[in-house]
Amino acid sequence: MNHWEDFLAPYKQAVDELKVKLKGMRTQFQLENNHSPIEFVTGRVKPVASILDKAMQKNIPLDQLAEEMQDIAGLRMMCQFVDDIEIVVDLLRQRNDFRIVEERDYIANKKPSGYRSYHVVIEYPVETIAGEVRILVEIQIRTLAMNFWATIEHSMNYKYKGEFPEAINRRLKRAAEAAFQLDEEMRQIRQEVREAQAYFSKNKEIQKEKNEPRHLLPKNEMRG
Ligand code: GTP
Ligand code: MG
Repeated sequence: MNHWEDFLAPYKQAVDELKVKLKGMRTQFQLENNHSPIEFVTGRVKPVASILDKAMQKNIPLDQLAEEMQDIAGLRMMCQFVDDIEIVVDLLRQRNDFRIVEERDYIANKKPSGYRSYHVVIEYPVETIAGEVRILVEIQIRTLAMNFWATIEHSMNYKYKGEFPEAINRRLKRAAEAAFQLDEEMRQIRQEVREAQAYFSKNKEIQKEKNEPRHLLPKNEMRG
C-alpha cells in the first residue's frame, strides 16, 4: 500500500539517521580508548501488521498514529553494565538534535512481567523535500542481560499472545530474577572487568601499531 509507504518514510529516515548517530557515540568512546557505555545499537520501523495489531489492542484511531503510537520508530542501545545506562541517558539529554518528551524508568520500577529497561521518547526532526516533519521515536536503553530476557519473553509472547501457561510464566519470572542477579554480580566486579577490557584493547592497540605505525598516518589521524 502506497499510503503506508508514504506515512512510514520519515520514520525509516529517522531510524537510519539515529542508528548512525548513536553508533557514532560508541565509535567516539572507542577512539578515545575509553570503556564505551554503549555495547551495540539496533533500530527498526514497526511492521505495518504490528502497527495495526497494536492500534486495535489500544484503541488508537489510525489517523492518530503519529501522536499516539510512540514506538513506530524504535532504537535500542545495549550496555554492559546497569551503571552505563545513566551515562547513556545523560548523553541523550545533552544532545541538540532532538528533544526528549518522556522518560520511563522500568529499571527502578520494573514491570509486573519482570521487564526492565529505560525508555526515552524523543521528538526527532526529519528533513523532507516538503519541509521538516517531527516524529516520535522510542529509544530503549538496557543491559545485555535485560535485552536477553526481553528478547526471549517477546518471542514467547508472540507464540502465546501474552497468555502464558503457568509453568512458563514462573520460569520467565525466575529468568527475570536471574538476569537481575547477573547485572548485580557484574556491577560488583565492574572495575575488574573494565581493567581487563582496557588491558585487552591496549594490547590490540600495540599489535595495530606494529602493523601500521602511527608516523605513517596523516597528522589528523594521530591520537593519544
Ligand atoms: P506498549 O503498548 O508496549 O508500547 O506499552 P506502553 O505504551 O505502556 O509503553 P511501554 O513503555 O510500557 O512499552 C513500550 C515497549 O517496551 C514495548 O513495545 C516493548 O518493546 C517493551 N516492553 C514493555 N513491556 C514489555 C514486556 O513485558 N516484555 C517485553 N519483552 N517487552 C516489553
Ligand atoms: Mg509504548
